[in-house]
Amino acid sequence: MTETTQVLSHHNLLPTYARQEITFVEGDGSWLIDSNGARYLDLLGGIAVVGLGHLHPAPLRAAHEQLDRLWHTSNLFYTEPMEQLAAKLSDRFGGADAFFCNSGAEAIEAALKWARKATGRSGLVALEGSFHGRTLGALSVTGQPPKRAPFEPLLPGAAFATPDTLAGHVGGDTAAILLEPVQGEGGVHLLSAETLAEARALADRHGALLVFDEVQTGVGRCGAFFAWERLGVKPDALTLAKGLANGLPIGALLVGHDAPTAFEPGDHASTFGGNPVACAAACAVVDTVDDDLLAHVRSLSDRFAAALPNTRGLGLLLAVELDGPAAPVVDAALARGLVVGTAGPTTLRLTPPLTLSADDADLAITTLKEIL
Ligand SMILES: Cc1ncc(COP(=O)(O)O)c(C=O)c1O
Repeated sequence: MTETTQVLSHHNLLPTYARQEITFVEGDGSWLIDSNGARYLDLLGGIAVVGLGHLHPAPLRAAHEQLDRLWHTSNLFYTEPMEQLAAKLSDRFGGADAFFCNSGAEAIEAALKWARKATGRSGLVALEGSFHGRTLGALSVTGQPPKRAPFEPLLPGAAFATPDTLAGHVGGDTAAILLEPVQGEGGVHLLSAETLAEARALADRHGALLVFDEVQTGVGRCGAFFAWERLGVKPDALTLAKGLANGLPIGALLVGHDAPTAFEPGDHASTFGGNPVACAAACAVVDTVDDDLLAHVRSLSDRFAAALPNTRGLGLLLAVELDGPAAPVVDAALARGLVVGTAGPTTLRLTPPLTLSADDADLAITTLKEIL
């Protein structure tokens, strides 16, 4: 490690992350290369972000071309990439309007404001164990008390249910029911189709809005463009981020055409939201996540599930439940050139590029089996 790298690794960064002592300098498909030239098979994908793999030619070319044309105009004007992306996402959803921002938490903030404005109500019902982001609004609806406690008081009106107690929490003051189709950070727990159907029925009965947080599950990660397509329940609105631009910062709130628009000029904004370079890359991502790639995701998912014990999840949002702590397994995998994540103290999380080859999947499975 050079002196400069050491300084970058150890100083001038607030300690919000427990970082590994590795500096990655290059990416190549499903592989990462560190500052010493060592290659690692990437089963983390930047935590479910780099869906097409590092330097995928489609978003790379689109971003380069846009970099050479126009970087920023403000949201006082239209740009071609933003309009094209909104149209592509609308097509995928079956009719929706978009608000673009720069991250998952920002997409949740937009969803919470939209739901309150659309209903004139303040109540927000989320699930215990959920994760919706770290900004104060998104944290207020994150069902993990230790993450909330140091920052309270948070937004009033948030309530947390389990799938069994959902009905008891939704009522005449509920603006939105907010659900991850598969809880990601909370441990990779798939909501049943019945729970989602019940949430849909409760929202309809009480005049509340059903919002799915597809920040982690969307853009092909779960084997369909949106995870809800596999679970059969369509929300009124949903949030996207992570995989949408394959690693460039972007977030989106999509509001279905059957739901109220609610927002008027001045209600919400983001200086960088809808950035032309990020939107150009995202257009290329949406075009690349086609039926063939989605079939590949489902087949790789089956391959992992058949080969590794105690696996759960949907598509390539997978968890392997361990008998003991996950951290030493992550370290052992890294030492063997394999990057994996965690989702809780005893849970490994696998969120590889959707483009991972079957051979690389087998290599990862062999390495993990040796370690486990
Ligand atoms: C389901 C879900 N929602 C929201 C977020 C927050 O996204 P971001 O870190 O981009 O703010 C995450 C991040 O992991 C997430 O998994």
